[in-house]
Amino acid sequence: MALDRIDKILSSQNIAARSEIKRMIRSGLILADGKRVMRPEEKYDPETTVFTVSGKTVEFSRFVYIMMNKPAGVLSASSDKHAKTVIDLLPADMKRRGLFPAGRLDKDTVGFILITNDGELAHKMLSPKSHVYKLYEVQCDRDLTNDDAAAFAKGITIGDIECQPAEMKLTGNKTALVEICEGKFHQIKRMFHAVGAEVTALKRVRIGEVCLDEALGQGEARYLNKQEIIDILSRKHGIP
Ligand code: URA
Repeated sequence: MALDRIDKILSSQNIAARSEIKRMIRSGLILADGKRVMRPEEKYDPETTVFTVSGKTVEFSRFVYIMMNKPAGVLSASSDKHAKTVIDLLPADMKRRGLFPAGRLDKDTVGFILITNDGELAHKMLSPKSHVYKLYEVQCDRDLTNDDAAAFAKGITIGDIECQPAEMKLTGNKTALVEICEGKFHQIKRMFHAVGAEVTALKRVRIGEVCLDEALGQGEARYLNKQEIIDILSRKHGIP
């Protein structure tokens, strides 16, 4: 594992914001292998160094889990020659090698995207077999009805693909919440198209039991806390 700045290492472990960590370094509260860290620029190998913060040992995890509020116009990809990606939007202190978005939201879809370097968790989160439900706010071009909700509950067929039954709750004339645990290409848009409605706006607001943090502005990101890392794989579901 490569060396990294101490303030970056500790902020990735959700200890505190980088500015707060700098303050703690100045106050002598941070030790690396028992020696006082003097400057935030000091570099360490996080896998072999024991850090203590205010006397407590930090349990280092090499995986990071970031919630981003994806804006429209940005690709859910690690890199792209022409367009901006969600990884490009991360602030410099969150960027590190190996990060990728777990699953895709369309370029025009907004909301919760998980960015991580943990392939196993991403696979579990995305596999329909894991029953991790994703909740979407949908706006359509026509009034939605209880018949639409019934069709979703029965299971929509898109082309030759049968989707699993999905819960839809009407929230307004043209708006609904929909929950699915599959991730077929353009699935929500194609499910609505199958019942004769076109999606005009789409936002993902929850993955597993973790809701999009509404304090995050468009394009902003924050680390998940320990409980959220567990809750992101929760099978519990149901639209409130
Ligand atoms: N379904 C879609 O159609 N688009 C998305 O971005 C996500 C789910």
